Amino acid sequence: MVKYNCLNPIADIGLNLFTEQYVKTDAIDEAEAVLVRSAAMHDLELSDNLCAIARAGAGVNNIPLDKCAEKGIVVFNTPGANANGVKELVVAGLMLASRDLVGGMNWVKENKEDANIAKTMEKAKSKFAGKEIQGKKLGIVGLGAIGVLVANAANRLGMEVYGCDPFISVEHAWNLSRDIKYVKTREEIFRECDYISVHVPLLDDTRQMINKDTMATMKDGVVILNFARDLLVNDDDMAEALASGKVGKYVTDFPNAKTANMEGVIAFPHLGASTAESEDNCAVMAVKEIVDFMDNGNIKNS
Ligand code: MLT
Repeated sequence: MVKYNCLNPIADIGLNLFTEQYVKTDAIDEAEAVLVRSAAMHDLELSDNLCAIARAGAGVNNIPLDKCAEKGIVVFNTPGANANGVKELVVAGLMLASRDLVGGMNWVKENKEDANIAKTMEKAKSKFAGKEIQGKKLGIVGLGAIGVLVANAANRLGMEVYGCDPFISVEHAWNLSRDIKYVKTREEIFRECDYISVHVPLLDDTRQMINKDTMATMKDGVVILNFARDLLVNDDDMAEALASGKVGKYVTDFPNAKTANMEGVIAFPHLGASTAESEDNCAVMAVKEIVDFMDNGNIKNS
């Protein structure tokens, strides 16, 4: 009998895959396997019973990896399982940064009783005029599952897509997509692009990579999208760059007190992977990984 614990409701979704040999426990120190979405596990005592943690999602910065390594606890994640959900929100972010759709919708709500709405609408049309993304340069930093999907989608929308990723070779990149212009460094992307979308994990090298110095090298009015990890961006520097107009729009899945109410900010409460399909895919993959490990000793990210 394997005792498991779920730290988030999303992780419950895939549980019908467990057989009767698996039993749920609310006492985390009894659990041999833990399923988690984004709840932080850093302050939890990791009991000697615990053998495996499966993160239903890509990023593992909520898991105390060093402690797990010390105790021999195997950590799984579910790379790619929610990539489509995130990609679709990034595409929405590109659109929202370019057209004031929310402003336009609010205007209609406020003016719907106006008998002369047809006339006043003429003014609204100029007030809410936007830009097209076709022909604009989009730079993607990080060509993992999500970065590549975003690149291909943006390319089909007519954007000129640049990409870089220090962890993949040019040959591999070429196989991923023929429509991306590969550059060696993110600095080239920062200099060249009208829109910059980051799709990297949080590492020493990527922490606060969007900061005063890197933003100074970007085009005036650049649009920055962050659907990856909050600490990739220095929030104080972003607030300054928004106030000065250096950054035209900041689209993020990580709202914070410093920038959330500023003009030019489009923020969501970490909704990238919050679709029925992505939640299901992640939970199912996480359960399969745990079962394959607990029953067969296999260690692989699907
Ligand atoms: C991820 O790393 O996959 C995301 O944080 C998705 C999520 O769990 O919301």
